[in-house]
Amino acid sequence: MNWQNFLDIFHNRRAGITEEIFIRSRDKDGLNPYQWVERATPRRGEHLDLCCGSAPLFLNSKDLSVVRLDRSQGEIARAHQRGAEGLVNGDALSLPLRSNSFTSVTVSMALMLIQPLSDVIGEISRVMVQDAYLNIVLPGGGPFIGVGDLRIYRQIARYGGSNTLSFPNGRGVRTIRTEAAKVGLTESMDDKRTFVFTPRSIEEAELFIDSLYLKDLPDLDGERKTKEKIAQDILAKGSMKIPLRMLGFRKIS
Ligand SMILES: C[S@@+](CC[C@H](N)C(=O)[O-])C[C@H]1O[C@@H](n2cnc3c(N)ncnc32)[C@H](O)[C@@H]1O
Repeated sequence: MNWQNFLDIFHNRRAGITEEIFIRSRDKDGLNPYQWVERATPRRGEHLDLCCGSAPLFLNSKDLSVVRLDRSQGEIARAHQRGAEGLVNGDALSLPLRSNSFTSVTVSMALMLIQPLSDVIGEISRVMVQDAYLNIVLPGGGPFIGVGDLRIYRQIARYGGSNTLSFPNGRGVRTIRTEAAKVGLTESMDDKRTFVFTPRSIEEAELFIDSLYLKDLPDLDGERKTKEKIAQDILAKGSMKIPLRMLGFRKIS
């Protein structure tokens, strides 16, 4: 199965899964990843939340007009159920949006997935007005997470049929920088944070495992006993670290 097909099936079946993990995760200041990106984004103007998933961002921002776009009908339906406004079911590779429309754009946990990356970044730049902000959240990039967490991440990768957890664009950072520069986007921020997810039950520990895009599992499910054993290891450890990176850009031309 190619990645885009996998993502479509995964997010239709498991809509909201990223949010379920992130809203239970905290950094050293007590922020979850969505609060982190919200704080880095201007709170007025026209905003595009690209690949919005279940729409966890900017739900209570009175001065921000938000368009939320995702390719997954399941995610859009979930976002609709919670009352999110400005929803568009569309593809980041060909945005059904007017050029020069947005004063800020966020892309949380998606640019490591979509190919070709140059096309997505070109589309993002096209819809941004001059001086607009772009904040991109990606996996990885924090300080060393420690052997205990690494061991469990490796167990999860092996359960998913590979040696390491990976994404189609790797972590995307180098290509994003190169492609952004080509379309007039200048880097203004590179922030790294580690968030800690603390499951309260075996089900929450299993949800964490499920959220990690184990693409090669048949029907998205692997061997039950192996998954239970890893979930128990996570519970016994008490928490899992999630290192994230936020790259910021301004559109200068
Ligand atoms: C890891 S989730 C992140 C969701 C949300 N931004 C968050 O942080 O909770 C990735 C999202 O990207 C969406 N996505 C994947 N490929 C896409 C594409 N080509 N165009 C638009 N959305 C896409 C998926 O449907 C999914 O909702």
